[in-house]
Amino acid sequence: MALRIEPLTPVFGATVSGFNASQPLSAEIQAEISAAFEEYSVLVLHDQPLTDAQQIAFSEYFGPLEQTLPGLVGSGSKIVRVSNMMADGSLKPPGGHLALFGQANLLWHSDSTFKAAPATGSILSARQIALQGGDTEFASTRAAYDSLSAAMQQRIDGLVATHSIAVSRRKVDPHAVSAEQEAALPPVPQALVRRNSVNGRKALVLGSHIGAIAGMADDAAQALIDELTAVATQAAFTYRHVWRDDDLVMWDNRAVLHRGHPYDETSERRLLVRTTLAGHAPTAVADRVVA
Ligand code: OGA
Ligand code: MN
Repeated sequence: MALRIEPLTPVFGATVSGFNASQPLSAEIQAEISAAFEEYSVLVLHDQPLTDAQQIAFSEYFGPLEQTLPGLVGSGSKIVRVSNMMADGSLKPPGGHLALFGQANLLWHSDSTFKAAPATGSILSARQIALQGGDTEFASTRAAYDSLSAAMQQRIDGLVATHSIAVSRRKVDPHAVSAEQEAALPPVPQALVRRNSVNGRKALVLGSHIGAIAGMADDAAQALIDELTAVATQAAFTYRHVWRDDDLVMWDNRAVLHRGHPYDETSERRLLVRTTLAGHAPTAVADRVVA
């Protein structure tokens, strides 16, 4: 074992050190990081200053990357600039479309569950951190699933929900998404419980993009989603990351929810750069679980 791995909480998360992410990785280090990722769900790597190109190279050891959605800073590249700044360093206009993205990040979510094959993982590099606030918090949907009664596990195994970006954007601003935009980004089915193919562990698939559950009335579906989300986000199953300069954090979107915490976007300058590990396959097709 070449890496040092120190758990962050009794339930999930670990600090990993003993390698340099800006340099080519040996097959051994790569395998140890992958194993830690599958086991701990959130990896915190301190003192890993990276350029965009180095971050892409490091990330691609763990799989193909998503292309950034149209309409975001970094669109069409493999980088998302999670920031209150535009690419030229000027502040985003408050209340505008780009600032809305920052607001949506404050809701518990799993990245890109609104895509048919949702992102496996996300890798976030702290280039400039807020002096106050701007923490990122994680919640283990794997620990949440494990804590449920056998009856509840049985009830939800095999259920299929729909996820859409229109649902999450409307939580921030009811007028954020037009009917045309919604038609262009139709809801996708996702399993409510997904099983990790490496270790067989199951986790809940929740977050701000989730809407209906197939075969359930809307009220009952929302009540179930709220109940499961409350289990996942209880203090015992969360870890709140306070950023340091040059931190690199990797998380498993299949096993955790995350959310940003507010900071003063009108006076601070915060820049985190994200690369996103693309999903391999849908978790559900129509109302049938496939993963
Ligand atoms: C993200 C994200 C939260 C934050 O990069 O996917 O949700 O704290 N970030 O910026
Ligand atoms: Mn996110």
